[in-house]
Amino acid sequence: MMRIVFLLLAGIFISQDLVFAQTFKKGPYLQDISQNSVRIIWETDSSTKGRVIYGYKGSMDKSIEESSAGTFHNILIEGLMPDKEYEYQVEGESRINAFRTLPSGIKPVKFIVYGDNRTNLGDHQKVVDAIIKEKPLFVINTGDLVESGLSASDYQKFFEIERELLRGVCVFPTIGNHEVIDPTLSMYKKYFFPPQRYSSVKEYYSFDFANVHIVVLNSYDGIFTFSNEQIKWLENDLATATKNLDHIFSVMHHGPYSASNHGDNAAAKSKIVPILKKYNVDMTIAGHDHNYERGEADGLRYMVAGGGGAPLYSSGQSQYTIYSESVLHYVVFNVYGPDVSGCAYRVDGSVMDCFNWSKGSPIQDAGYGDISADDLSFDTPLIDTSDIGDDLQMDTSKADTEIVDTAMNDTLDAFQIVDTEEVDAHHNPTDVVYDIKDASDRGKDIDLLTDINISITD
Ligand SMILES: [Fe+2]
Repeated sequence: MMRIVFLLLAGIFISQDLVFAQTFKKGPYLQDISQNSVRIIWETDSSTKGRVIYGYKGSMDKSIEESSAGTFHNILIEGLMPDKEYEYQVEGESRINAFRTLPSGIKPVKFIVYGDNRTNLGDHQKVVDAIIKEKPLFVINTGDLVESGLSASDYQKFFEIERELLRGVCVFPTIGNHEVIDPTLSMYKKYFFPPQRYSSVKEYYSFDFANVHIVVLNSYDGIFTFSNEQIKWLENDLATATKNLDHIFSVMHHGPYSASNHGDNAAAKSKIVPILKKYNVDMTIAGHDHNYERGEADGLRYMVAGGGGAPLYSSGQSQYTIYSESVLHYVVFNVYGPDVSGCAYRVDGSVMDCFNWSKGSPIQDAGYGDISADDLSFDTPLIDTSDIGDDLQMDTSKADTEIVDTAMNDTLDAFQIVDTEEVDAHHNPTDVVYDIKDASDRGKDIDLLTDINISITD
């Protein structure tokens, strides 16, 4: 009996022609990822003309080269497809990196919120290492990324600690009071490229994915308050977003509610909260206080996620607090259709607080339809039940047979292959297409089309 083993093509293709001796000070890291584009950014110790090759996973067949040489490289890749995995390689590195574009429509998305990582570098590293294991689509940093916004070495440390994470996961930054130690935000603006589709400035911005809108505010663009210009922009931004999308999250460094050291932000409560409530924002997320807190005040869900590495503050308890704890942590959000769920984790992986709510339109059948092979792991090889190599079937009699949807961390506990192409093993088949039908209790019949490259071993 022949045994056919799936290879999901992770990192198999290696280009040898881009390997040069060159020191990478920062990156490569992702910024400004969207449904159709991403920026690849890196900094080198010597002047060179930057070049990126990229393409679908397993076939990097496109490239972009900068027009002039320099030490700071920022290449915008456009024309990508939503919710697809891509690979890229920058000139001077042999390593191939992968990222996934943001989805459109009703799709499951997992993202992570953390922040206030400044100061204790070892603790910052612990949080980043824990986040990497979670494999989020992207991360949101709630601010105070550096100890001093004036310090080049602080920015250097940030990108060194986050290097492995940011190769394939875009961080959406928030401006904290430690960034505005430099009122011009010159290094912040050099290294971070938040989305500018809805905003003409880098200080505050918004972006969309699936049926979700996220708006990131700057708590300090007035004199330690919100400028009238920003407030006007926020009102217009949310008025547009609510016409098309089901969920809205707002992020700001010093949020309206906190029972810890810094306490409530009076300006956020008086100037921002009425707008967030008017547009039925799901949750407002903050940092600034170096602890975790989740609560509900004035009919608005709020969260403080400031345990990313800065010296921890004692957690407090107000009339609004549902849960609080003083610990290094990160928060996982899962959004799918009307449903939002998530858990806050300590860096040791233990769960401290979970939450969920439902809102918006019902899940559409199409939601599961586009799960790709990249989201699946197979722990049992396909078994060829014939003598000549065709009639492939998955041996579902094995007790440990399972297919895991890693995007949803969900096991398809009942499934069948409904339409395999016949394969002649003697022709060393590749790129065989299977339709896998989910017959599990997730409530949907899923026609799952997977493009899977296989190899055959005896
Ligand atoms: Fe802060």
